Amino acid sequence: MASINKQIVKGDFYGIGVGPGDPELLTVKARRVLSQVDIVFAPKAAIAANSFAYEIVKECVSESKIETITFPMTKNKTELKSFWKDAAEQVYQKICEGKNVAFITIGDPFIYSTYNYLLRHLIILDNTINVYTIPGISVVNAIASLFNVPLAEGEDKFIVTPLPSHLAELKKLIEQFETVVLLKIGKNLKPLLEFLKKNDYEKNAYFARHIGCSSQIVIENISELIDSKNEAGYMSTMIIRRNERGGSLS
Ligand SMILES: C[S@@+](CC[C@H](N)C(=O)[O-])C[C@H]1O[C@@H](n2cnc3c(N)ncnc32)[C@H](O)[C@@H]1O
Repeated sequence: MASINKQIVKGDFYGIGVGPGDPELLTVKARRVLSQVDIVFAPKAAIAANSFAYEIVKECVSESKIETITFPMTKNKTELKSFWKDAAEQVYQKICEGKNVAFITIGDPFIYSTYNYLLRHLIILDNTINVYTIPGISVVNAIASLFNVPLAEGEDKFIVTPLPSHLAELKKLIEQFETVVLLKIGKNLKPLLEFLKKNDYEKNAYFARHIGCSSQIVIENISELIDSKNEAGYMSTMIIRRNERGGSLS
C-alpha cells in the first residue's frame, strides 16, 4: 500500500496593533483576528512586570493562547539582532506546524515597534508566509485626542520622534515643525522639563503617561511636573505645539 505523504500547510502570520492602552481602542478587525488565531505572541520588556500589549487584549484573548517574548533592554545591535532572530525562529516554528499566529504590539505596528524587527527576521526565514499587518491607533493619535489639540492643520508640518538626546536638536525641531510629538522620554524627563521652562515652552506642552490605562496621568500644566520623579518619563508622551493650540486660521 502506498504511503500518503501528508504535507502540513503553513499557518498565516498577523502583526496586530492593539492601540495605546484602552481596550475600547482595539479595532474591530484586531478583535476578530485575535479571536480566530491559534497563538498570540506578546512582547514584554525585561524590566516590565507584564506585557503592556497583553494587558490591553486580555479580556478578548484566552490566556492559553498567549506566549510571551521577553526582550532584553539593550541598545547593543548585535545582541538585539540575535534576540529577534531567535524570536522569529520561535514564531516560524509554530507557523510551520500549521498554526495561525499573531504578534501583538502597542499602538501601531509600524511606529517604533518591536514588530519591525520580528517581521524582518521572519521574512528572512521564509518570504512565502502570508503576512497580514493590522494597523492600530497610535499613542500619537491618543494623546492629541486626550487634550483636544490638533496635530496639524492647513499647511502645518508635524513630526513624531523619540526625545533627542541633545536638547539643542529638539529646539531645532520645534522651529521647523508646528507640532512635535515626543516618544521614549524615559529617564530624560527632568532635563526635558528644564528645557521647556528655559525656552518658555511650558504653555505649549501637553504630557500624558499610561494613556488609556487605569494608571493614566494627564498633565496640562507642565510646571506641575517639574519636581516629578524620573520614572514618570516611562510610557509617557508629550506634544509640543509651537503656537500653543495652533489655530493659524483663527
Ligand atoms: C516603542 S514606542 C511604541 C509606539 C507605538 N507603536 C504607537 O504607535 O503608539 C513606545 C513609546 O510610545 C509611547 N507610549 C506607548 N504607549 C503609551 C501610553 N499608553 N501612554 C503614553 N505613552 C505611550 C511612549 O513614549 C513609549 O516610550
